[in-house]
Amino acid sequence: KGGKILVLPGDHVGPEVVTEALKILDIIEEETGSKFEREFDLCGGCSLDKHKDSVTEAVLKKSTEVDAVFFGSAGGPEWGHSQPNPESGLLRIRHRMQIFANFRPCKFASKALLAYSPIKPEIVGGVDFMFIRENCGGAYYGKKIEEEDYGCDPWEYSRYEIERVARVAGALAMQSDPPAPVWSVDKANVLANSRVWRRIVKEVFDKEFPQVKLQNQLADSLALLLITKPTSFNGVLVSDNTFGDILSDESGGLTGSLGLLPSASLAGPPGPAEIGGTLGRNSVGGVVGLYEPVHGSAPDISGKGLANPVGQVLSLAMMLRYSFNMHREADIVDKAVETVLDTKADGGMEIRTGDLGGKAGTKEMSEALQSTVRKL
Ligand code: NAI
Ligand code: MG
Repeated sequence: KGGKILVLPGDHVGPEVVTEALKILDIIEEETGSKFEREFDLCGGCSLDKHKDSVTEAVLKKSTEVDAVFFGSAGGPEWGHSQPNPESGLLRIRHRMQIFANFRPCKFASKALLAYSPIKPEIVGGVDFMFIRENCGGAYYGKKIEEEDYGCDPWEYSRYEIERVARVAGALAMQSDPPAPVWSVDKANVLANSRVWRRIVKEVFDKEFPQVKLQNQLADSLALLLITKPTSFNGVLVSDNTFGDILSDESGGLTGSLGLLPSASLAGPPGPAEIGGTLGRNSVGGVVGLYEPVHGSAPDISGKGLANPVGQVLSLAMMLRYSFNMHREADIVDKAVETVLDTKADGGMEIRTGDLGGKAGTKEMSEALQSTVRKL
């Protein structure tokens, strides 16, 4: 068990939270006898400082040779006018790795966090879905036209791009027993592109995932339903790049603090190799992916030991699950986060970082997580 990972801590709080998350990986190695070979390198502002580029060709090449990439966060005000900007390094890695399926879970990491949601607990309680956003195509890529009085971004998708992301959604749905329902998000009432999307997604599900219930969901009405009836989407949502960008940010907001949210970007379907064949497979039979918290480098709190490590730690759990098929260990990490956030420490003070209104620092939170993982 285990494999080879490329660690790119990045800037500001990136290295602070990555260091803590890797301590959890150390414990998992000890307890399971697995081995994760780790190579550290630069991406973002730190790479600009050393190499005058946000990522080097050597790092790009390495990102395609490892089983998974574990990323912190990139950027900060000190590189405000740099060309290229620090965040471009991450975009280039994503593109080189062809990690076209961006996963953002929407569920409460612990019951206690219900109180931090901007939505009433009776509406949002029990929400549990995965938002999958197509991340390598659509309106954000392609040949753009930018003139004085005219602008155009071609919103294009070809069959293979739609098929592969649909297959990822189907494969993920199949990991639940019974299979989770899937909603495909589009605007087929007005966009030709969406009508092709809808037709091809249905073809993939009819042929490869007949056990999975597939429904279509218009993007605009989803924006409303996410805040009025979010639990009615418990299962898997899959959408193109543009709708997914906007709606996955919205769904992220349902469960509260930015510091808690993990993400994964995968190069193929997770789960058994019968689904999707060799697409995106790594050397250990998992899927190649890049794992990072949703939050940025939080320069306002960096260097003070205040960052919440939970988003990075939950990203580690996703890496174990999807890239290394270590479902049991991933569950343990998730459970440790839940336990720590739900437990009141001695004296009745909960272990919470500042973003959750607590007084704990990164270290305290991390130590509580480490000792809980050891116990589970
Ligand atoms: P941000 O996510 O870094 O911070 C927004 C707010 O949330 C700040 O008040 C911050 O202190 C807080 N916050 C974020 N993570 C936290 C954590 N783990 N614990 C506690 N509080 C946390 O977004 P912002 O300020 O817009 O961007 C800062 C820099 O990060 C910019 O250079 C931006 O371009 C970059 N960025 C990088 C991303 C990446 O590497 N994928 C994603 C988003 C932004
Ligand atoms: Mg966004």
